[in-house]
Amino acid sequence: MTDLFSQPNPVKSRIEALRSALNRHNHLYYVEDKPEISDREFDLLLEELQRLEEENPQYEDENSPTKRVGGSVTKGFLTVEHRFPMLSLSNSYSREEIESWVLRTEKLLGQACTFVCELKYDGAAISLTYRNGELERAVTRGDGSKGDEITNNVRTIRTIPLKIQGDFPELFEIRGEIFMPKQSFLNLNQSREKEGLEPFANPRNAASGSLKLQDSAETARRKLDCFTYSLVADVPVADTHFDALNKAQAWGFQTPLRFDHFVRRAKNVDEVMAFISHWDQNRGNLPFEIDGVVIKVDAHRYYDELGNTAKSPRWAIAYKFPAEEAVTKLHDVTYQVGRTGAITPVAELEPVLLAGTTVKRASLHNADQIVRLDLRIGDWVRVEKGGDIIPKVTGVVMEKRSSNSVPFSYATHCPECNTLLVRPEGEAVHYCPAELICPPQRMGKVQHFISRKAMDVDGLGSETVKQLFSSGLISNIADLYDLKVSDVLPLERMAQKSAENLVNGLEGSKSQPFERVLFGMGIRHVGETVAKKLARHFKSIDAIMEADVETLVGVDEIGEIIAESVFAFFRVEENRKLISRLRAAGLQFEMDDLSGPSSDVFLGKTFVVSGVFTIFDRKSIKAFIEDHGGKVSGSISAKTSFLVAGDNMGPAKREKAEKLGVPIISEEDLQTMVK
Ligand code: IVH
Repeated sequence: MTDLFSQPNPVKSRIEALRSALNRHNHLYYVEDKPEISDREFDLLLEELQRLEEENPQYEDENSPTKRVGGSVTKGFLTVEHRFPMLSLSNSYSREEIESWVLRTEKLLGQACTFVCELKYDGAAISLTYRNGELERAVTRGDGSKGDEITNNVRTIRTIPLKIQGDFPELFEIRGEIFMPKQSFLNLNQSREKEGLEPFANPRNAASGSLKLQDSAETARRKLDCFTYSLVADVPVADTHFDALNKAQAWGFQTPLRFDHFVRRAKNVDEVMAFISHWDQNRGNLPFEIDGVVIKVDAHRYYDELGNTAKSPRWAIAYKFPAEEAVTKLHDVTYQVGRTGAITPVAELEPVLLAGTTVKRASLHNADQIVRLDLRIGDWVRVEKGGDIIPKVTGVVMEKRSSNSVPFSYATHCPECNTLLVRPEGEAVHYCPAELICPPQRMGKVQHFISRKAMDVDGLGSETVKQLFSSGLISNIADLYDLKVSDVLPLERMAQKSAENLVNGLEGSKSQPFERVLFGMGIRHVGETVAKKLARHFKSIDAIMEADVETLVGVDEIGEIIAESVFAFFRVEENRKLISRLRAAGLQFEMDDLSGPSSDVFLGKTFVVSGVFTIFDRKSIKAFIEDHGGKVSGSISAKTSFLVAGDNMGPAKREKAEKLGVPIISEEDLQTMVK
């Protein structure tokens, strides 16, 4: 008889072959710019692998190329210690400072040395650990000695290899900067604004925000990129920094060597300054943001000798570009009213060219800022474009102030609805309190209601809401459900098909669960999580409406401020009217109770769910845990209370749970615990 176990396993070999082909093509496409197959062919291979992995969960691999698209959910990231601290760089701003750093360095070494000049990418620092050629973990800089483990999110970045090739040490750490290219940033902000979400101020914030998302599929959509800039290993890998970059590039990492003018060896200050001034002038043409240049000693043998100061190594220094500045005249101050009624003052300027774009308006933040700057209409002001897309007014050119200028007085009434503004104690921002009257607030409420995380209405975006408002077709969220195809057809750029999609999208949104409807109502301080908590606890809008502040505060994680805001919302007649109209239209105002009565048995417990189940499916097991007060997390940590194991759970998960002493239970155990 043949031994069953020694037979070749065609499924397993096919999975392995697909993985290695996909890894190779990914590298050829994203790092080498030399694709050998079409996008379509790539997708076909990926789809085949996805299917095989789904059908054969026993071959699960955290570094499979299918993990690039994300899908894992992490609730709260694990904090881990860096094996070697992640230092920062000391900064310099002039040729003189660079000169004295070079002099100091060569004096310490007792001889002249060679430097390497690199771009200073403006993103978030990352430390990547590779064991046996595979990405093991990715950790943020954090406070320098410990950071957040964000491996699942980092796996989605195509220029970070999941498996590497060549002659590499068994264990090493490679560090680099994760950033968001300018184009991805613009696209992201555009779609955020359409969805009524706050845009990110700059690509750096967008990059770090995207790395800390709980849903890695969303990180995958954010189109992040990475340049690696230093290797850290117990055994020496290369004699010079330049060679280390070469090695890393050959193993499959994206280093600045991929583009031949992104990195230069320099023998003296003149050569360093030539690199700096080239990039100071040309950084606008790069597809990503840089905020300076980094200069490093090339030969590794000097690193120990030079050592570190408290915060930074002596073998490297950053040169920071000056923020680009212009002087122009302040014509007026206008005010914007946001969805929540927050007022933002805006400087209306004489148009001026700054960092390649014409600037006409600049942010003034709030009333305090105007006082601090002692700003007056007609002043000549300094405008600066730092890392943010929105320029800032940073000062007044006092010598140019006209003798008859008068101190500035801040608006007292809302520019949109003329209501007296309020400024809550301890806050710097003024608000318009007329949320039910003030047009931009009313429109903002509808934009929030239809947004992706709330009702997620297909075929309807923020721009169309604007049109619906200005044409008088709607003035609140309930009006949406009265819309007919014939009503919206006359709108500009509205074709039959899109009108139908809009109405169908609204119809479809009626089945959105209660918690989304509640979140969509836009009650101040009721975000997604609070809406979920309230919906799960009270089960119906009627129960929430009846609850007094004391009852509301009794709910886990609901504090006084939230409770009072919820209570006040339902005391407003117009809000109650909206709810009854929405209810009549068929929206969900109750929890559907398929999972049986809920409880608090799992309160404070975190579960990780893995494998294939018989009683539950993936979705219902999560809902079951949450309905009983528990949390579900994507990865096992010391904080995990239980690992719920189904069939064919990956051995890595089991091993980790055992190592950390996390109890492993079955789906039956889970049910028994509730009973
Ligand atoms: S080398 C001491 N090279 O700048 C650490 N850093 O304050 C050695 N950065 O947190 C860093 N581009 O994230 C190095 N080409 C580059 C860099 C770079 C950006 C960041 C890095 C670090 C910060 C320094």
